[in-house]
Amino acid sequence: MIYLDNAATTFHKPKEVFAALSKSYGNPGRGGNTASINASKVIYQCREEISSLFGVSKPQNFVFTSNTTEALNLAIKGLIKKDDHVIVSGMEHNSVIRPIVATGANYSIAQPSKEGRVTADEFEKHIKSNTKLIIATHGSNITGTINPIREIGQLAKRHNILFLVDCAQTAGVLPINVEDDNIDLLAVAGHKLLYGPQGTGGLYIKEGITLTPLKEGGTGSVSESLFQPNFPPDRYESGTLNTNGIAGLLKGVEYIKKLGIANIRQREILLTERLMQGLSSVDNITLYGTQSPLDRTGIVSFNVFDKDSVTVATELDSKYHIACRGGLHCSPLAHESMGTLKSGMVRLSLCHFTTESEIDQAIWAVRTIATQ
Ligand SMILES: Cc1ncc(COP(=O)(O)O)c(C=O)c1O
Repeated sequence: MIYLDNAATTFHKPKEVFAALSKSYGNPGRGGNTASINASKVIYQCREEISSLFGVSKPQNFVFTSNTTEALNLAIKGLIKKDDHVIVSGMEHNSVIRPIVATGANYSIAQPSKEGRVTADEFEKHIKSNTKLIIATHGSNITGTINPIREIGQLAKRHNILFLVDCAQTAGVLPINVEDDNIDLLAVAGHKLLYGPQGTGGLYIKEGITLTPLKEGGTGSVSESLFQPNFPPDRYESGTLNTNGIAGLLKGVEYIKKLGIANIRQREILLTERLMQGLSSVDNITLYGTQSPLDRTGIVSFNVFDKDSVTVATELDSKYHIACRGGLHCSPLAHESMGTLKSGMVRLSLCHFTTESEIDQAIWAVRTIATQ
């Protein structure tokens, strides 16, 4: 199988990630037995490694979640009240839009360019006196187009508005620094390009921000109190953590650090350029997003003239053993912005394990489908 659905989750992972999953752990932070202490050490090590990847100076401000969706829900529902106003980019995933709708708050949509990029100026147009939060996806999960988060972060800071960035598609491939980028809340996927197992993700919460937790319960700390601890990460991490998953995530993050984000990115640009060039030479194909591989991630989406995107994706899988995704990718808002709400798109998404030969086979298969 040629796996080109890395935007959903990575399939190929460093072998150390799988090895970590088969180890046995005690319950982290629950008692003084050796097994528990060893589990706590792994959790702490992962918290430290992942924090340093994003320029988070105090690891306790990085909270583990089960995926990006949970991180985004914690940030949005933990912060936003009915009377608040929120600005989101028109390229957001349902894991941003649905929690906002659930809060009942008022929201405005900052519109993207036809390439899927949303500028700070566009966000600025929508600022109101009660705007509490600006949310932007860093890299679109449908076009791959990268948003200028540093400029948007500066805008938010100037206006004293909090800034939440959805880095589901960029953590592990693009440089991200919460200080330099003025990020107050950063949601990441562990199971995508950080190469951790499914069931992992996290949220950075800037010092001084206190969110309402999504859940209360046992934290292994201040157990004598009936109230949830008010300090991170315990405030947000009730219940037994996914120690095996986090141990695997640690190995994924170590792998990334060993290779270096700059090298990972360089390879991603190379592969993306190859894929885009190949597909743009195929008749009957519409490609989406910016033309420049420097301004996009390793997501390349297209449609074949009048063919349904899910049908094309299914054919790629069943006839050519290429795993990819058609349809709306849980992002109807983004598809509406790109004018593809009806058709969806066929999305090919690569990772560091993708080879040139796999890209060439995918181009050949798409060409065969498009011209038959
Ligand atoms: C941009 C974006 N945000 C959020 C999510 C949700 O991620 P998760 O599956 O980790 O909850 C995805 C999933 O693909 C995504 O692409």
